[in-house]
Amino acid sequence: MRVCFPITMSFSQSLVRIIVLVHIHIFEAAVELAPKRSKYPLLDLSYHNNLIRGLPSAEKRGRPDILHRCLLILQDSILNHLGKLKVSFSTYSDPGTSYVVDPSMRPPRSYTRFMGLMAELLRTGEIKSSLIRSISTKDLLDDDVHTSLLSKSGEKIGLKGFFSKITTRKPQRFLIGGFQKGSWERPLPHDDVLSLSDYTLSSSQVAGIVATLSALKLENQENLKQNEGR
Ligand SMILES: C[S@@+](CC[C@H](N)C(=O)[O-])C[C@H]1O[C@@H](n2cnc3c(N)ncnc32)[C@H](O)[C@@H]1O
Repeated sequence: MRVCFPITMSFSQSLVRIIVLVHIHIFEAAVELAPKRSKYPLLDLSYHNNLIRGLPSAEKRGRPDILHRCLLILQDSILNHLGKLKVSFSTYSDPGTSYVVDPSMRPPRSYTRFMGLMAELLRTGEIKSSLIRSISTKDLLDDDVHTSLLSKSGEKIGLKGFFSKITTRKPQRFLIGGFQKGSWERPLPHDDVLSLSDYTLSSSQVAGIVATLSALKLENQENLKQNEGR
């Protein structure tokens, strides 16, 4: 029996208790520190192409922009404004460590500043504002929350099928790969594997779909309640 997922959880910084409905975890994000001699803080295909081509699983390395876009979309989402979203991520090179993002955290709009922030996080395990905190991936994911891994090769349910699987009754977790190509490599606890489309979508597109359809489900639920109360 897995440990229960806390329905309410507090973030030390904001001291606000929020009701988490949807937990989105970006896994195997292609974010890692660049070699010390590099003038760029993170490994990035645009600057370290030759180096990355020689690494194992090169298709999952050197794309911090993928996580950047996901965080921008998720932190700005209606679901996050409603206080119903928990966002976390882990990286390809250190899958045992995860990072939980405070709902009030505004990712830098500039990619250069985002790289600086991520480098600080990976070097020290925290950022100055403490709005991202580290936790072991096992502690973060080892519970009894229903967890769906999103992949093109999963059960083909499409957008309608996905919408019908979202529930407002209990928390749900969605795992999205934070890399450019290939499949997941490290074991991650999940209950099903779902495909939203026959197309290979970008991680940020998938993150946006999950957050938007979850907010729409909540809105539908609220409307239903109001109509029943009339
Ligand atoms: C660029 S894709 C990686 C491509 C990978 N070959 C795949 O089959 O999903 C990054 C992530 O987006 C998500 N994704 C991409 N296409 C998807 C789809 N059609 N349905 C559900 N998730 C998808 C998956 O979580 C994937 O790990």
